[in-house]
Amino acid sequence: MNLQDAATAVRQNAHAPYSGFRVGAAVRAGSGRIYVGCNVENVSYPEGTCAEAGAIAAMVAAGETVLTEVYVIADSPVPVSPCGGCRQRLAEFGGGAVAVTMANTDGVERVMTLDQLLPGAFNTDHIAGR
Ligand code: THU
Repeated sequence: MNLQDAATAVRQNAHAPYSGFRVGAAVRAGSGRIYVGCNVENVSYPEGTCAEAGAIAAMVAAGETVLTEVYVIADSPVPVSPCGGCRQRLAEFGGGAVAVTMANTDGVERVMTLDQLLPGAFNTDHIAGR
């Protein structure tokens, strides 16, 4: 299964009764394996989690800490863009050149690198010596 199919499939499992906005994410890890996640909302709104966070958690739980490719999809008018927090989460495990494909369910895709999505990212350089 490719990243697009994996993200599209897992999106069906999103728990989004409050926003009605279902998101699917798939990441390819260093091993080549694909990990998926969907958004999981909560009646206490701030406790919800994004699809990207779920995919990253699955990857790390499986023992992998490098991601090489990302795909995110939602039923949005324009390709869905990872939120600020998820850009930082992706940058924790992916280099700046990692391609993030943002998609909508009409088949429109936009590809940007992590460097483009999060220029000047806070990283280990900033906490050097600690
Ligand atoms: N959401 C994601 O899961 N990923 C994104 O990249 C953007 C937003 C979720 C969070 C919330 O459950 C819903 O979309 C509406 O903001």
